Amino acid sequence: MDQDGRVLSNLIDMHRPPAGGIHPREAANHHAEVAPGLIHAALEKAGVRPSELDLVSFSQGPGLGPCLRTAATAARALALKFELPLVGVNHCVAHIEIGRAVCGCEDPVMLYASGGNTQVVSYLEGRYRVFGETLDIGVGNMLDKFGLSVGMSFPCGPEIERRASGGERLLELPYSVKGMDVAFSGMITAAQRLLEKGAKMEDLCFSIQETAFAMLIEVAERAMAHLEKQELLLAGGVACNRRLQEMAEIMTRERGARSFAPPRELCIDNGAMIAWTGLLMFRAGNRTPLEKSAVDQRQRTDQVEVTWR
Ligand code: FE2
Repeated sequence: MDQDGRVLSNLIDMHRPPAGGIHPREAANHHAEVAPGLIHAALEKAGVRPSELDLVSFSQGPGLGPCLRTAATAARALALKFELPLVGVNHCVAHIEIGRAVCGCEDPVMLYASGGNTQVVSYLEGRYRVFGETLDIGVGNMLDKFGLSVGMSFPCGPEIERRASGGERLLELPYSVKGMDVAFSGMITAAQRLLEKGAKMEDLCFSIQETAFAMLIEVAERAMAHLEKQELLLAGGVACNRRLQEMAEIMTRERGARSFAPPRELCIDNGAMIAWTGLLMFRAGNRTPLEKSAVDQRQRTDQVEVTWR
């Protein structure tokens, strides 16, 4: 990222497990293998020499411990070698900041829907606060667990979205909204039972999407109403789903509000969002000294004091 919020390069080399879910150690090994080449390629694509860098940002959490540690080690090495300041960034906060930067929304309620995370987050009194979240697994994780159990390949969201477009019947699945929170694990078992009873895969995928996304939109809408906010920002891999985007558009239109989603490469996990948030934090005087650069795999969104807004 440059000072004006332009993305100079945003290369992605995602770990794709051959079968089953992500194994943290294997994913970390993948990160370690691709990091040096990716850093070189990113500098080349950006047309920037190491001497032109101003700071090194890295994701300090939340996330998978081994993966965070691998990237943090690479960040520390770069900072030491080129004598650059280091800034540790909260992963969830970074999704909001890149969304604000590229979508032009100012004070949104963010619906962050990915494999590992499902949260409704917004700014209030100096922090990004979590107003609702999943009580068990992320919505993307639910899609993957169901998809893998019926032979789809990881990540399963896109295939579920494709199959859902051929669905005609809305089958009954658990709609678990508890206050401002949601839960998804019961949906997998229920969907598998329906499949055993002969339900069509297209109808199942359609019903999973309709039910799970309606839960998310309900909670996001309530957050908007309580906070009197006029913008909804989608983030995370699941936010690339066209049906979720459409439901977000309908809900916000009915409220006289607006819905935003960054382009795919800035909506899924990406380096540009970490770089940009690090830059905002750096300008506000934030630094992460080496002795405070340990990762925190459970770092919460509201742990971060927002000093740059
Ligand atoms: Fe993410």
